[in-house]
Amino acid sequence: MKIFLDTADIDEIRAAVNWGILDGVTTNPTLLSKEMNRTRKEAREIQLEICEMVEGVVNAEVTSLESSEMVREGRELAALHKKIVVKTHMGIEGLQATKTLSSEGIRTNMTLIFSANQALLAAKAGASYVSPFIGRLDDLGHLGMEVIRQIVEIFDNYEISTEVLVASIRHPLHVIDAALLGADIATMPFAVLEKMVKHPLTDIGLKRFLDDWKKAGSLEEKIPLLTK
Ligand code: E4P
Repeated sequence: MKIFLDTADIDEIRAAVNWGILDGVTTNPTLLSKEMNRTRKEAREIQLEICEMVEGVVNAEVTSLESSEMVREGRELAALHKKIVVKTHMGIEGLQATKTLSSEGIRTNMTLIFSANQALLAAKAGASYVSPFIGRLDDLGHLGMEVIRQIVEIFDNYEISTEVLVASIRHPLHVIDAALLGADIATMPFAVLEKMVKHPLTDIGLKRFLDDWKKAGSLEEKIPLLTK
């Protein structure tokens, strides 16, 4: 399963790139505006900076509501950098825009997906990726992971090549469940990625190894004295 960061924060992205495990980035208007406020940079400048930093794809979202406007924005985003995947939102206008963009060879990711039916329609419109939001479903008392299970099974049944990008991830268990279900990608906040690295037994184990090694070192120093 590919691991994406769900952020526009340049520092977080740089850190994950340096860890050597990052496959791509997703952004949305909320995340991008946060970074624009933090850095006082323009949206396009941030998007380009992310593209230069990351090896894989970078998802950038359109903000128009009308399909021809979404297409215009999508073309502009795609022309910005070859790594950009255009995020279009679910709905009739979004489906029309996705169809046009994908028929022009522009990769699209249909976002704000909350049901398997929406994912099926996005795939039929030619989306390269679908982004079901599991955390927001869980927040309402629905099982977000059940939607992932359905989408993965339906796409498998019909050999649909659209990739399932699990979005709105809130904690490391979501990542494990997404991987067990065979999702293609999990996109997560940096805090979740950090939690995936950590385990208290790893820290305890490492401390014990190093303490024992230090003791052996001081023993080694003492051995020549003992043999004199
Ligand atoms: C996906 O691309 C979205 O940006 C994101 O996962 C939404 O997550 P949230 O529900 O935590 O805002």
